[in-house]
Amino acid sequence: MAASAPSSPAVPIAISGASGKTGYRIAEEAVARGWAVRLLVRPGSELPESLSAQDIRRLDFGDPAALEAALEGCGSLVIATGARPSPDLLGPLKVDAFGVRRQVEACRAAGVGRVLLVSSLCSGRLFHPLNLFGLILIWKRIGEQALETSGLDWTVIRPGGLREQEDRLEQEGLVLSGRDTQQDRSIPRRLVARCCLDALQHPASIGRVLEITSRSDAPGPGFAEALAALA
Ligand SMILES: NC(=O)c1ccc[n+]([C@@H]2O[C@H](COP(=O)([O-])OP(=O)(O)OC[C@H]3O[C@@H](n4cnc5c(N)ncnc54)[C@H](OP(=O)(O)O)[C@@H]3O)[C@@H](O)[C@H]2O)c1
Repeated sequence: MAASAPSSPAVPIAISGASGKTGYRIAEEAVARGWAVRLLVRPGSELPESLSAQDIRRLDFGDPAALEAALEGCGSLVIATGARPSPDLLGPLKVDAFGVRRQVEACRAAGVGRVLLVSSLCSGRLFHPLNLFGLILIWKRIGEQALETSGLDWTVIRPGGLREQEDRLEQEGLVLSGRDTQQDRSIPRRLVARCCLDALQHPASIGRVLEITSRSDAPGPGFAEALAALA
């Protein structure tokens, strides 16, 4: 289908976790597409200079009223928050499960009908080395479920290992598949950002868990083509 902004360019897309390494790229890519953005970050979050002119809302993500107010008037939300590695093993529970649920509830309260969550490959899996960090894959699945049962138009994007690579992106072939179909491989964060925005543009992504990685040895189809091939 024809690519277009998910709603009027004047209606902002909220991006939470826009200070993160994937979040800021989602914001940059949205701005590059001419979309209005609203960046939801913590009071002490650091944003790159490239985003300093954008609508930035600093808030306590534990405060439902503050979240709802920050989302007011937005057409969609991309959730790019995630527990940062830390000695606090409750971080994933607080951020990836409760934090996502709180954002989903705030969307319902604020009338934001379209939500995309950046999750992770192997979400929901118990026996996985990543779970040494506070059972993170279990809590990510709980976060996903909060979104999937919300009644909102939702998409879950599960990327593989995230890379900082910014060059030779045109050489990267996207590998896009459905729920619980991939378990390794990686993908540059910039490509994840583009896929998230492509997903917002394509209604066929609504109600789907999509797993994404990329391979540098085989340039592949674009997001829309790959999504259509999934059927
Ligand atoms: N690393 C990987 O290889 C990998 C693979 C697959 C999926 N993922 C997932 O992909 C997502 C993006 O990863 P990333 O590495 O780009 O993220 P990141 O750079 O670690 O950024 C995390 C973002 O979440 C925010 N955040 C953390 N705790 C928060 C809290 N309590 N309340 C509100 N915001 C909070 C951070 O804000 P501050 O800037 O204020 O800290 C930051 O904006 C995460 O969900 C991650 O788990 C990661």
